[in-house]
Amino acid sequence: MRKISLCAILCVCGITTAISQFLSAKIKIDIDRKIGDIDRNLFGNFTEHLGRCIYGGIYDPASPQANADGFRNDVIKATKALGVSIVRWPGGNFSSGYHWMDGIGPLSGRPRRKDLAWGDIETNKVGTDEFLKFARASGVTPYICVNLGTGTWDEARNWVEYCNAPAGLFFSDLRAKNGHREPYGVKYWGLGNEMDGSWQMGHRDADSYSKFALEAAKLMKWSDDSIKLIASGSSDYGDGWINWNRTILTNMHDAIDYISLHHYSGNYHNDYYQFMNSTLFVESVIRITEGLINEVRTRFSMQKPIYIAFDEYNVWYRAGSAEKLEEHYNMEDALVVALYLNTFIRHANVVKMANLAQLVNVIAPMMITDDKLWVQTIYFPLQLFENNCKGYAIDALVQSDTYDTKDNKQVPYLDVSSSFDETTRLITINVINKNESKPIRTSIINQSGHLEDDATVYELNSQSVKDENSAGNEKIRTNQQELKINGDNFDYTFPPHSFTMIKLRLIQKLP
Ligand code: AHR
Repeated sequence: MRKISLCAILCVCGITTAISQFLSAKIKIDIDRKIGDIDRNLFGNFTEHLGRCIYGGIYDPASPQANADGFRNDVIKATKALGVSIVRWPGGNFSSGYHWMDGIGPLSGRPRRKDLAWGDIETNKVGTDEFLKFARASGVTPYICVNLGTGTWDEARNWVEYCNAPAGLFFSDLRAKNGHREPYGVKYWGLGNEMDGSWQMGHRDADSYSKFALEAAKLMKWSDDSIKLIASGSSDYGDGWINWNRTILTNMHDAIDYISLHHYSGNYHNDYYQFMNSTLFVESVIRITEGLINEVRTRFSMQKPIYIAFDEYNVWYRAGSAEKLEEHYNMEDALVVALYLNTFIRHANVVKMANLAQLVNVIAPMMITDDKLWVQTIYFPLQLFENNCKGYAIDALVQSDTYDTKDNKQVPYLDVSSSFDETTRLITINVINKNESKPIRTSIINQSGHLEDDATVYELNSQSVKDENSAGNEKIRTNQQELKINGDNFDYTFPPHSFTMIKLRLIQKLP
């Protein structure tokens, strides 16, 4: 992208650097430039049997916060306020050693086992019926990941029968006996977790995983042909990741509805701009996988779509397994989470599900300390996107000053996505100003229809990118302001290292 800064022009003319404090940009939005419908499943989350996510997180019968089923009311309330649409369970790496029949029936009969993924003792107090109760109480769609590590085809298909078949079969009768006569109708099923990773129990090469998973898929769909299946795509971005996805798509294209992708980011070298670049790679992975989907659909003359389920993403680099993955998030981490969300919106035509890993305590937007729930910095961009980005994604034109890092040249400071909801006529413009120290004065131009004068601005910012919230001090939170605009072009200045969502409304057209 060509640099357009006023500074560059003035510096060439020999004018002093005082004026170079100003950076500038332009954003044009046009609701006719539709990328794709924004699937509500983009605003998903994930709960794994790991550390304090399930036990001491969503489930804690001893807590004064617990409901009659042992689930915490404060977590349920915060999950609803966040706007979470779908929750993946029971893992993660945990799922590759999990035998679901351990987690059904009377609690007293459930075995204690060592979970080899994380080294914890699994009491099996939360199993299928409990998780589905939590999902119902929180108003989220359940998404179950089956064990294709140490598990069998039979276990996978019996689990579908347990959840979804009408009473009258062995496993559905077992469900009825366990207190739930009506089928749960679990629609989304993952075919294993991160099977490309050598760390995974039952890791296989792409060919053997896809052949094994294809048989599981066949039996699961024969048990309930309405379910949607998600194949295990790339999580390990070594040399072979493209081949992994191509093999999975080639061998399984008829059987699957989604291919999953996972990615975590970290500020490994305390280099702010390098950290801000981490989602450039995510964007490339999405583009390449979309290309592979198109290749396979063309080769096999497919009508059926295959989508991407980005079913694990987050910032995660400080807390290792010993600390049970309890990250404390700061302002720059919140910006990276907003960058992930912008990336998913910009690819809303093909990314139809995304799940932040995870919901509570473990690499999570909400934490429980001394039995009180508090929210981390990353809670706020998630909440803004989940509650406001509806309808379809718009392809916004962005011209902005750029920066260079060792690995990436000419990266625009402004990262932008945009959405339009035809029902409410609300437009969102979602902007991360990656510049650490300078505001960016931006000319915003609406090119289709006319804007109402009243707009709302939500901003997430803090003095330092290292600022974070803690149990007694939620100092970073969304700041909301009303904005008066006049006409279809207006200027807005995005503060340094900030995330801003501008909510505009198009005037209702007269019939
Ligand atoms: O979310 C934590 C872990 O990260 C998951 O168990 C695994 O799938 C991934 O490697």
